[in-house]
Amino acid sequence: MNPPLRLGIAGLGTVGTGVVRIVRQKAALLAARAGRPITISAVSARTRDKDRGVSLSDYAWEDDPVALAKRDDVDVFVELMGGSDGPAKAATEAAIAAGKDVVTANKAMLAHHGQALASAAETAGRVIRFEAAVAGGIPVVKTLTEGLAGNEITRVMGVMNGTCNYILTRMQATGQGYNALFEEADKLGYLEADPNLDVGGIDAGHKLALLSSIAFGCQVDFDAVALEGIQEITLGDIRHAADMGYRIKLLGVAQMTGRGLEQRMSPCLVPAKSPLGQLEGGTNMVVLEGDQVEQIVMRGPGAGMGPTASAVMGDVMDIARGFRLSTFGQPATDLVKCETAVSVTPAPYYMRMSLLDKPGALAKVATILGEAGISIDRMRQYRHDASTAPVLIVTHKTTRDALDTALSGINRLDVLSGAPVALRIETV
Ligand code: HSE
Repeated sequence: MNPPLRLGIAGLGTVGTGVVRIVRQKAALLAARAGRPITISAVSARTRDKDRGVSLSDYAWEDDPVALAKRDDVDVFVELMGGSDGPAKAATEAAIAAGKDVVTANKAMLAHHGQALASAAETAGRVIRFEAAVAGGIPVVKTLTEGLAGNEITRVMGVMNGTCNYILTRMQATGQGYNALFEEADKLGYLEADPNLDVGGIDAGHKLALLSSIAFGCQVDFDAVALEGIQEITLGDIRHAADMGYRIKLLGVAQMTGRGLEQRMSPCLVPAKSPLGQLEGGTNMVVLEGDQVEQIVMRGPGAGMGPTASAVMGDVMDIARGFRLSTFGQPATDLVKCETAVSVTPAPYYMRMSLLDKPGALAKVATILGEAGISIDRMRQYRHDASTAPVLIVTHKTTRDALDTALSGINRLDVLSGAPVALRIETV
């Protein structure tokens, strides 16, 4: 048998504990597949005396993850602490400097520092692998980097935050509002320590930025992701969208346009009957489109002990088998700084507004849309309550600029109660 691949694991939360379990319980299977044993030399976490339901007595303990990363008996530093900076980044840098390969689940760290870390690793002849950072158990990084390497990627799309999808689909199923479902997600332990990472779209935006880099050969640029969360989505939006044949999803979309790379993470409408429209609960879905393969849809658990540890182990096994790949699928020095394009791809939009019951009110809205060059595809007006009526409009494809012009005109009208809502409709 070949010499073992020795891991040092920093972070023993859900994912770290899951990795320790797999290494302990599936030692024979892993060794058979890799042609060498996978072992753990040392571990590190914030709290030592905590019952994690798995024995750590065989492993050395390090209070300091940087010390763990530098140990002579560690070949691969497995970073599962999280956080974009602080100990996770310091320990990852130390591991690379000490000649270790790195496996991480840390999307925030790579979204902010991916280019520098990948460059450092490649200069040192080491690899950084991050399957677990994107869409939990779905092997999307591998698929994009390896399986689709012969394609020009045309679009990457996905629901990559299970918490948001849980909240949105529960709103639809139960008729409860956003705040009640946010509380429910909290009680179930779905929310990140900072819930804005989930509901503000930041966590999913990190993931999209990483996939964009692989797909389009650009340096990771999280700041270029146009972010919008789900906090403003009302039960009315969900119901009205359903009436028009759509579901609302926090959807990430990345595509290269003639004016640069467009990256968006925002609530969008998708056809209710499409795979994305049918995605329920905390599940993730990634849609990859390439010029040769056409479209691939991958669906699976985006979080949780087993699925995320499964992704970590996929990376560990690649390293054990001697498979070495640049972090983002091509040498970091060759990744280009792509121009940022903001909402240049035309799309149909869904608009909702509350119109006062005045003669000519609807005509005024229609005139403004017409003057902005926006053509109406479908329209529905519901019955008036005391004085207003909800009006839904689905437009034909238009640009965001034209839509914004129309929205500011509509906002100035004296026939509306409240501001109009406009959501992009993504064709899938
Ligand atoms: N909080 C994330 C989610 C999982 O809800 O999908 C970790 O990225």
